[in-house]
Amino acid sequence: MDDRIEELREKREEAQLGGGEDRIESQHDKGKMTARERIDYFLDDGTFQEFDQFRTHRTHSFGMEEKQLYGDGVVTGYGEVNGRTVFVFAHDFTVFGGSLGEVFAEKICKVMDKAMEVGAPVVGLNDSAGARIQEGVKALGGFGEIFRRNTEASGVIPQISAIMGPCAGGAVYSPGLTDFTFMVKDTSHMFITGPDVIKTVTGEEVTFDELGGAKTHSSTSGVAHFAVDSEEEALDNIALLLSYLPQNNVEDPPRVDPWDDPERADEELNTIVPDQPRKPYDITNVVDHVADEGSFFEVHEDFAKNIVVGFARLDGHSVGIVANQPRVNAGTLDIEASEKAARFVRCCDAFNVPILTFVDVPGFLPGTDQEHNGIIRHGAKLLYAYSEAQVPLMTVITRKAYGGAYDVMASKHLGADVNYAWPTAEIAVMGPQGAVNVLYSKELEAADDPDARRDELIEEYREEFANPYTAADRGFLDDVIEPPETRARLIADLKMLKSKRGDLPEKKHGNIPI
Ligand code: COA
Repeated sequence: MDDRIEELREKREEAQLGGGEDRIESQHDKGKMTARERIDYFLDDGTFQEFDQFRTHRTHSFGMEEKQLYGDGVVTGYGEVNGRTVFVFAHDFTVFGGSLGEVFAEKICKVMDKAMEVGAPVVGLNDSAGARIQEGVKALGGFGEIFRRNTEASGVIPQISAIMGPCAGGAVYSPGLTDFTFMVKDTSHMFITGPDVIKTVTGEEVTFDELGGAKTHSSTSGVAHFAVDSEEEALDNIALLLSYLPQNNVEDPPRVDPWDDPERADEELNTIVPDQPRKPYDITNVVDHVADEGSFFEVHEDFAKNIVVGFARLDGHSVGIVANQPRVNAGTLDIEASEKAARFVRCCDAFNVPILTFVDVPGFLPGTDQEHNGIIRHGAKLLYAYSEAQVPLMTVITRKAYGGAYDVMASKHLGADVNYAWPTAEIAVMGPQGAVNVLYSKELEAADDPDARRDELIEEYREEFANPYTAADRGFLDDVIEPPETRARLIADLKMLKSKRGDLPEKKHGNIPI
């Protein structure tokens, strides 16, 4: 028996070393942790239970039969994060560059299948050279098996990806299908085809970082929701993100012990929205003052900054925040903002996170660029996402809600449960300037002093339409409230809406204009 135990211990030790000490050192030299170090940092101490540490590949070509390494390049299993079960897989770059072959894929699929069976999140730590060349189509088949599982799991269990090294070719689509993607600055990149191929095919010259580094994907393409400075920061933030989410789509997100007075009437809210309708302000200030202190966790912070999305807490309950950002492009809705918010709304809806929307939107961004790139179908995504959402929807109009954008931003008409406006709200088909130009162009041409007449008409229009009371009169708003009342009202509403049950007609699935 002792011999057998000794043999097991030796094998385990060998498995722990992955591709060996030299490659571990080279991993550290690149400023990266190993797969096991990442898992160790991420999970609660002593909770990791590994699967399949003795698996090896079955390939015989290119001399691969001589190279057998336990684990086959990926460490898989489950453990706990803040006491809750989480499944993990971490690519081991020290073994064949973390490249994915048949067995590697089978290990990931096993973890994903088990996570689906028990209803727990999957976190993938990516650091891989992509499809294992020696395994050919078997590797591609492995990717396909993972993609199908990513899709099946979408909206059932949270799936989170961290990119901590290369992620190229087909490998990008698994993170691309998951709910949230983190990238570590300087050490990670993602692209379908690399700089060399691009140069050959199109003649274009681009660096790895410009093409697919963390900054590019978090700000330009929107592929990454978070760009962080270190692997530790990525893992800490994944743990924080999970704290706002349920384990699966039939559970509610966990409530944390509240630390902030639910009745807190924050007088500062009276001064955040400027008196001048065109003056910008930072909507995240409003979120910070309404939500539980320090609870706002912004998602996709660097992408489509004209809209803000993220998670926060109200009396300890998790809520999703969607808010126009008047500080960037006056908070107009454009293609990227619509897509960013639509995806976030659908994510919250899938995972039973109530949505709180703050509205200050002058309309959709005008221009041929927007029209020709399809703002109609992209803007429709946000309409669609709100309209099909069955979670509690709470809306606060802080200032402008003009035109179609009024409808889009979780209006009563799309099914929002409670709609409020602050006294500073202006709800109309368009802003006073535009409206006066359309309605009175002839009169203004004929006027002795067109500018003075225009100012007069603008003032008249403002008084008549640029206020919340017409909407309140119609019942499109449930109330007009003083800003400091907002927090207590929303917390009461959230409690009332806890038992909300919404039903959509039976269908296979909708046909969202993707
Ligand atoms: N299949 C099998 N093995 C691979 C591999 C692949 N796709 N890519 C890399 N490897 C191996 C290397 O042969 C090397 O093995 P060794 O340690 O036994 O020498 C090891 O992984 C590390 O690769 P290396 O190139 O030394 O690391 P690097 O950090 O300098 O570069 C990459 C990393 C990912 C940029 C580079 O390896 C690369 O471009 N790989 C090919 C990527 C690709 O085209 N994949 C297919 C897309 S689906």
